[in-house]
Amino acid sequence: MRLVVTGGAGFIGSNFVRYMLRRYDDLEVVNLDKLTYAGNLENLRDIEGDARYRFVKGDICDAAAVRAALRGADAVVNFAAETHVDRSISGPQDFISTDVLGTHTLLEAVREQGIGRYVQISTDEVYGSTETGSFSEESDLAPSSPYSASKAGADLLVLAYRRTYDAPVLITRSSNNYGGWQYPEKIIPLFITNAIDDQALPVYGDGLNVRDWLHVDDNCAGIDAVLREGAVGEAYNIGGGNEVENLALTRRILELLGKSEGLIRYVTDRPGHDRRYAIDCAKVRALGWEPAVDFEAGLERTVSWYRDNPGWWRKIKSGEWREYYERQYAELG
Ligand code: NAD
Ligand code: DAU
Repeated sequence: MRLVVTGGAGFIGSNFVRYMLRRYDDLEVVNLDKLTYAGNLENLRDIEGDARYRFVKGDICDAAAVRAALRGADAVVNFAAETHVDRSISGPQDFISTDVLGTHTLLEAVREQGIGRYVQISTDEVYGSTETGSFSEESDLAPSSPYSASKAGADLLVLAYRRTYDAPVLITRSSNNYGGWQYPEKIIPLFITNAIDDQALPVYGDGLNVRDWLHVDDNCAGIDAVLREGAVGEAYNIGGGNEVENLALTRRILELLGKSEGLIRYVTDRPGHDRRYAIDCAKVRALGWEPAVDFEAGLERTVSWYRDNPGWWRKIKSGEWREYYERQYAELG
């Protein structure tokens, strides 16, 4: 099978490329990635010499680059996106370009070239927030941020390509991922690395927002199950079943690192901050998938990963990241 992965130099994409090459011998992977601030070829150092793997630098909005990368592919999995909610609030344009128009460019190439399978990597954020119960794949889309609105727009385009052109598309909508190689702007890697350096942990609002944590390896297994077994035209929720308030998560990170709760700083809330995400995952479970990583064990493993790989995140934190951090968290002084 020849698989094109877009955004494979990012957090989930790089974990997915590694997961697939380990799991299947008869697989070729092409990784098409623009290498934005979030793309990092260091994430794939261990597999760059694998003859079954090829990296192509390119933008999913560039139709010629997409056509060339997809030629001869059996399947495409689209991870490429702008992904950080706070950055979408301060500057939505790149989100609309990559997440909506980039998805459209890929869909056109899939259609033109008759590619057999296209998996769109979406998010539970497209459903918006709920204080009670959980969203199924049939729930309405009610996104809150420019990020989640862009992802929802992409989902609608993907489904429209199925209805209009009979394109062989599928969608996964996962909850919050955590694990190694996650850019330290998302809460878990940001708070672990800040705590290691005795820097403040900026908790938004009252810290009682809830996220459902999914280990990235479990998401990779779920995406693989959908790629192989999913029904064309369908969306699949993939959640970890680990709902945790941000403050409890923050306290546990501090405890695992032996650091004081005095590092916690309450800062101005994120505008439009979704209170709680929760998804029903019966549909993907019916494909035989279930999460295998216990949250407590996975968090301990993740804390150890950042403690053991300071070279990886210190390099990131010395570059573009610092400018972003100073802008985003100006009130920390
Ligand atoms: P990330 O920000 O770590 O990586 C994104 C990757 O996409 C980077 O390698 C970047 O260089 C690449 N990219 C960005 N714009 C591009 C473009 N125009 N052309 C080609 N490549 C481009 O993201 P992530 O956290 O790994 O998320 C991957 C996907 O999973 C995204 O689609 C995201 O919406 C979705 N998702 C993420 C989570 C999560 O918790 N991280 C949860 C649910 C869904
Ligand atoms: O739910 C899936 C989504 O999870 C993905 O689609 C997104 O790409 C991914 O970024 C993530 O979005 P969140 O907004 O949930 O993740 P983030 O790590 O930015 O924030 C998690 C929670 O922590 C959220 O309630 C906001 C809070 N937070 C975050 C940061 C960065 C803080 O309190 N302080 C912070 O500094």
